[in-house]
Amino acid sequence: MWSRPVAIPTRLPRRPTPSSLRLPKIALAPSSTRLYANKACTDYLTPTHLDDNVPLDVQHKLKRHSAVTLNTYARPHFILARGKGCKLYDTHDREFLDFSGGIAVNALGHADDGVAKILQDQARKLVHNSNLWHNEWSGELAYLVVQKTKELGGMGYPAGQADQNGQADEGGLKVFFTNSGTESNEGALKFVRKYGKYAAALRNAHGAEKGVAAPTDEKVEIVSFRDGFHGRSMGALSATWQDKYQAPFAPLVPGFVPATLNDIDGINQAVTEKTCGVIVEPIQGEGGILEANEDFLRALRKRCDEVGALLVYDEIQCGLGRTGSFWAHGSMPVDCHPDIVTMAKPLANGIPIGAILMKDKVADVIKIGDHGTTFGGQPLQTRVAHHVVSRLSAPSFLSHVSTVGTYLSSRLAALPTLFPRLVAGPPRGRGLILGLPFKRDEYVQRIVKLMRERGVLVLSCGKMTVRFVPSLTVSEEEAEKCVDVLESALLTLDRESEGI
Ligand SMILES: Cc1ncc(COP(=O)(O)O)c(C=O)c1O
Repeated sequence: MWSRPVAIPTRLPRRPTPSSLRLPKIALAPSSTRLYANKACTDYLTPTHLDDNVPLDVQHKLKRHSAVTLNTYARPHFILARGKGCKLYDTHDREFLDFSGGIAVNALGHADDGVAKILQDQARKLVHNSNLWHNEWSGELAYLVVQKTKELGGMGYPAGQADQNGQADEGGLKVFFTNSGTESNEGALKFVRKYGKYAAALRNAHGAEKGVAAPTDEKVEIVSFRDGFHGRSMGALSATWQDKYQAPFAPLVPGFVPATLNDIDGINQAVTEKTCGVIVEPIQGEGGILEANEDFLRALRKRCDEVGALLVYDEIQCGLGRTGSFWAHGSMPVDCHPDIVTMAKPLANGIPIGAILMKDKVADVIKIGDHGTTFGGQPLQTRVAHHVVSRLSAPSFLSHVSTVGTYLSSRLAALPTLFPRLVAGPPRGRGLILGLPFKRDEYVQRIVKLMRERGVLVLSCGKMTVRFVPSLTVSEEEAEKCVDVLESALLTLDRESEGI
């Protein structure tokens, strides 16, 4: 059970703050019930979930498992057994408040009743039947994703013009289902390559019948951005310009070109007539919650059009409601929109699935047999995803994400002033994909641990950043508790690091 620490009656004596640094009262989201002064919360100074306090049975199990498990993750020593909403419980029933959301996956929270019901029902009907036959749900999910894109904005369809954007079956967009984010990007990279071969040929042949003109190898380069993350297969990894991921596995796939996010001046040099595609996250997640700005995306779109390259947005972490819009790019003007969007993580609330959403002009160059998958688009995961997309595309759901995100962000925004030695600046990101920058990486690692030892799970990302990607159903009270615990952890670290 969650055990609230013994109340500490007084707030810690604070070092005197120079009047120039003193904070005005922090602005609150209107529905909040708590008033904040310019003081950090001290309710959680005492750890309740110490990492080193590992029960014997857990020690034995972990030892047994580690003897046979490839060790690619540094995990704390507890075993999670169940969850509900934003709460997780370990095998000893200790409660954790989960602000990691399965790394931005569990959009509807853990053990959602609607998802559970559908899983059970579909498991009794049909789980898998291969892609050689139609099933009831794959096409319905594709229809829903296209319909919601047209209704809510994205992929060239402006937000707020649902009545003019048309219906899904009027054409314009197509979907291919995969099993993960990596596979969605891998597929998108293949589609981009094939388009490049034929697009060049088609342009040369002045409108020759689609696919008839001979392919060329002149247009095969793919541009992607430093600090981006697109996955760990050889193709997706080749687009992931981070040394720690790439170096151990070099040589990678040829033809990938690095560029710098938000460097408009660098675009023309990176994106040339040889470029078949550009892949970018509208908000770099693993890289540190770094947003691509609107002007940059507009310039990228323009340059892709000039050279006949496809623009791919990897919305695997930031898409499907996380920013408070259906697509992260959906709230931007259409001259910032892509030709392809890749998605995965929240699509079926944790049941593995991914998808590639593309314009018809991309779909037109992909022929039967060009690409395939055993598991992609099967009835179990597509039916769950249909349920998830129906719920997270509801305007009330999206506005909840924006409201709680704004509240969380406003609380985090006070921390650079409260903890100037530790916190490097205001939070980055939108909606419920937020990152708080720190002054040192060891502070980030320590804060993640101090919060975990107080029963709150958060993640690190990129350079010196703590990441907040909870379930999208998270309440304002849960956000409040998360920041209260963070403040207590910061106070603890501030005292520890006095001598650092
Ligand atoms: C933006 C982005 N792209 C791709 C991936 C890879 O997805 P997956 O782990 O499902 O293969 C991730 C995973 O973190 C991601 O955040």
